[in-house]
Amino acid sequence: MTTAILSALPEEQSSLVDHLLHPQRVMHAGRAFWLGDLQGRPVVLALSGIGKVAAATTATALIERFGVARIVFTGVAGGVGDGVNVGDVVVAQDYLQHDMDASPLFPRWEVPGYARSRLVCDTALSAMLLEAARACVSGARGQFGLKYAPQSTSEDALHLAHHGLVASGDRFVSAAEESHRLRAMLLGAGHDVLAVEMEGAAVAQVCHDYGIPFAAVRTISDRADDTAHVDFPLFVQTVASRYAEHMVLALMHK
Ligand code: ADE
Repeated sequence: MTTAILSALPEEQSSLVDHLLHPQRVMHAGRAFWLGDLQGRPVVLALSGIGKVAAATTATALIERFGVARIVFTGVAGGVGDGVNVGDVVVAQDYLQHDMDASPLFPRWEVPGYARSRLVCDTALSAMLLEAARACVSGARGQFGLKYAPQSTSEDALHLAHHGLVASGDRFVSAAEESHRLRAMLLGAGHDVLAVEMEGAAVAQVCHDYGIPFAAVRTISDRADDTAHVDFPLFVQTVASRYAEHMVLALMHK
């Protein structure tokens, strides 16, 4: 059973490629796919690309061309839920496209043809990922020697692993006003969103179509506010790749 590890960022992918046994690089659909063994398990590593369409293409190629049996996504996200802070980790329970709006033909956020707005991640795979994420955040300071302390957290802050709704859309949310509005609108319709990013819901939809298990973990790089564009690159350089590496390696042991 081959597992696909889909990374949002090159930094995340390269730290995993370094651990591959028998690495083989295959180009397909303008993308590089890395085949090999990770901790004794067959894997394909790929970059999702940025945005929903790029991620859907990559996910489809992983299933159709490489025959993967499950997809695990690692990346970063903007925290929008109360208490979802930079350095925390969110394992997605389900996904919604916050820029989906076919109203008045369909209710706001409903994906036409699916009769629902939220697509659920695989329960068993998500539980394993949550366990790996919890071990990672609790050991973060000791294991990684984290030096990074953006203004929204402190050097001694205890990072948390959350489990809940994540929203995707083709927008980098970089204004507090926008993120508050988005969160309030979704909450008003009963969707308590923890984080925003730009790919996961598309991969969830592809996996739903093909009937294969999907799980996603996102490290919070920013608060989707007015400093998001500064926090995001800083976080990516310093922490995100090491989080992804440790969580994926832990998952491969399960
Ligand atoms: N990924 C990381 N931070 C994000 C943000 N603020 N908006 C969308 N995607 C993100």
